[in-house]
Amino acid sequence: MEHLRADLAGLTPYTVEPVDWHGDPLDKLDANEADGDVPAWLREKLAHLAQTLPQHRYPDGEYTSLKTAIAAYVQTWSGVAIAPNQIALGNGSDELIRSVLIAAALHRGGILVANPTFSMYGILAKSLGIPVGAIGRRETDFAMDLEAARAAMAPENIAAVFVVHPNSPTGNLLTAAELDWLRSLPPTVTVVVDEAYGEFAGTTVVPELADRPNWIVLRTFSKALRLAACRVGYAIAAPATVRVLESLRLPYALPVFAAEAARLSLAHHDTLLANIPAIRQERARLSTALSQRGWQVWPSAGNFVYARSGRDREVMTALAARGTLIRHTGGGLRITVGEKATGDRLLARLAQEWP
Ligand SMILES: Cc1ncc(COP(=O)(O)O)c(C=O)c1O
Repeated sequence: MEHLRADLAGLTPYTVEPVDWHGDPLDKLDANEADGDVPAWLREKLAHLAQTLPQHRYPDGEYTSLKTAIAAYVQTWSGVAIAPNQIALGNGSDELIRSVLIAAALHRGGILVANPTFSMYGILAKSLGIPVGAIGRRETDFAMDLEAARAAMAPENIAAVFVVHPNSPTGNLLTAAELDWLRSLPPTVTVVVDEAYGEFAGTTVVPELADRPNWIVLRTFSKALRLAACRVGYAIAAPATVRVLESLRLPYALPVFAAEAARLSLAHHDTLLANIPAIRQERARLSTALSQRGWQVWPSAGNFVYARSGRDREVMTALAARGTLIRHTGGGLRITVGEKATGDRLLARLAQEWP
């Protein structure tokens, strides 16, 4: 390995259980995707796209029509006017996380995260040689240790702060105190608010962007909009920030099919998002059932439940053997909330193992 950077030797690829698309169907509750696929009528439209889109042409490098559709969509749930030049695109929001790291922190300083949180901020930062400062969270509600956050800023030369709203894996929204702290950061520090689960939470910081040119909101088509296979994410930010993020995107990073599928999903977003009340109801049902097993379960604003059972690894392994995949992360279990039948199987499999 003498031909590669020595500091990359310790990195491990981001992994979830491999999927055998042709094997026994598993209940995949380990990646916070939508449990139910897109409806048949949308699949037909996607098939038509696949049949008719030219395969020998590059995509429109600017993705103007997709950005226009996203800006209109953001406006529907944020209540503020958003222009297409406030939207940057990524091959999944993962690509945007890397672009933000390059734009805000590379050769400038480190990043700050509050663990447990989404692991890709740290993984991607390390891949770029960017130092990662980590603070903790209060065990009762996973609120960030703000005293530690304040103390870390100057001495650790933090150039960017990454927060998730609601946080993954713990499901909690940013508190008023956390938001105030983010607002108090100097304009030289980039603030990333990752709202990957925003549709489930029904809340957003997008209205703040008008006053905060150093803030970037990240969103994705991979969760509520049910297009994880297409890998489309977007950032909402000031036009000057967007220009930089767009310059860092690989040319044509989004395949034509993915960009068109994303546009199609937005044309039908009302229908695709109509299952959110049912997911919230199922989240409450699972939370209650797991609490009744004696597990510690935290309130969640996402499409997942975070819990600790006292024997988490054992639970994860036993469920996997019975056909339900869940994720062990951050010292607990993160379980995607799916359809009621999937939740029924989860609870039945737990009861078979631990009556
Ligand atoms: C908080 C958070 N941000 C970003 C992502 C990545 O999303 P994408 O599929 O758009 O790359 C995930 C995926 O699980 C996530 O949980």
